[in-house]
Amino acid sequence: MRNRSTLLLVNIGQLLTLRSASGGSGPRRGGDLEDLGVVEDAAVLCLGGKIVSVGNTKDALRDPWLKKNRKKVIEIDCSGQVVLPGFVDSHTHPAFMTPRLVDFEKRAAGASYEEIAEAGGGIRSSVEPVREASKNALADQVAEALYEMAEQGTTTVEAKSGYGLSLDSELKSLEAIGKAAKRWPGTVVRTLLGAHVVPQEFRGRSQKYVEIVCKEMVPQAARRKLATFVDVFCDRGAFSEEETAAIFAAAKEHGLEVRAHVGQLSETPLARLLEFQPASLDHMDRVRDEDIAQLARHNTVVTLVPGANYFLGLERYPEARKFIDAGVPVALATDYNPGSSPTASMPFVMSLACTHMKMSPAEAVAAATINGACALGLHGRKGSIEPGKDADLAVFEVEDYREIPYWFASNRCALTVLNGALVASGGSGVLG
Ligand code: NIG
Ligand code: FE
Repeated sequence: MRNRSTLLLVNIGQLLTLRSASGGSGPRRGGDLEDLGVVEDAAVLCLGGKIVSVGNTKDALRDPWLKKNRKKVIEIDCSGQVVLPGFVDSHTHPAFMTPRLVDFEKRAAGASYEEIAEAGGGIRSSVEPVREASKNALADQVAEALYEMAEQGTTTVEAKSGYGLSLDSELKSLEAIGKAAKRWPGTVVRTLLGAHVVPQEFRGRSQKYVEIVCKEMVPQAARRKLATFVDVFCDRGAFSEEETAAIFAAAKEHGLEVRAHVGQLSETPLARLLEFQPASLDHMDRVRDEDIAQLARHNTVVTLVPGANYFLGLERYPEARKFIDAGVPVALATDYNPGSSPTASMPFVMSLACTHMKMSPAEAVAAATINGACALGLHGRKGSIEPGKDADLAVFEVEDYREIPYWFASNRCALTVLNGALVASGGSGVLG
């Protein structure tokens, strides 16, 4: 679905270009995370789904092409507003059918995430509804989530399978994500998460299930081009380091890139996983100091998902400062899922990063845009506002970008541009 208008955003109060001052093209680290490339009284011209020029409003209006074609252009006055690159939500699980309200209630009564999972709740309790759902019904759920994300400024989404846990249902989930993506003007990157947990019927026989992931799911997802990445939940109660390495090896053999959930519930040494050059390691609530030093030498992005810590009522949050101060590139993502983080809001996640992880608002912006793009290998196209990049923009009804994480749990996003198509906040769908 593409409806790309020629757009001119003018009189922008603060434009956060996220252009790299140092000229580097990799993920932002350390002090570079603070550099948002702010332009005041700015203008952005988008044509055919791409950004063609970025500068100040006066210069933009003097452009000869624009003078001649002004009538064909949709002009948007962004006076007193902030425009930034659309958020790149680089970790989501939208292929599920029902919220997990019993888990929610049990946690409120004092049970932990792992206790609930052991008692028959958790990820496994989301499986049956997905296995029973038609591809179209699942696609409807995913599409609804994608629009909710767009209304809050997100333009690129990494979307995982992971609640099917059988060959058919995992492939169906990836196909459903693909169908939903066609009904949404933004960009969706698909990830096979067949190794989310061992399904009930393979309990005690995880080796057999890992074999199915490696020999059936990964090759078929790759052959049918249903996924770019393979993810593994590498943690206590899910998959071991050995099993993760085996799945990573199968993914690479079939030309797929890898990423993992690590360090959410227990500590896993990272050296073995880093051999596979994962695009991203996510959660990372528990990491050894020597692994932080090691990560600083890699391009692997550490994707922090504090929405999960918030929703599980944890006191502990990922140690963003340790990562950033050591030079590790960090991204922020929602981890949108029915068990640990049912939020589609990147601004809320940025707010948590500032209040609970002591990231500055500027660091939170960079982590939610350019570094999210790096975590998906899309930094050549996404994550900053520069000529030649995709026309992915978020317009916020605030005068200062620091208000984006400041007004928590309130949506100040007025308009989102996804590959040149407009989505207004408030559910009015694609505008033009
Ligand atoms: O990222 N940790 C593994 N997966 C999800 C939770 C999924 C669920 O509980 O449904 C996460 O937090
Ligand atoms: Fe997750």
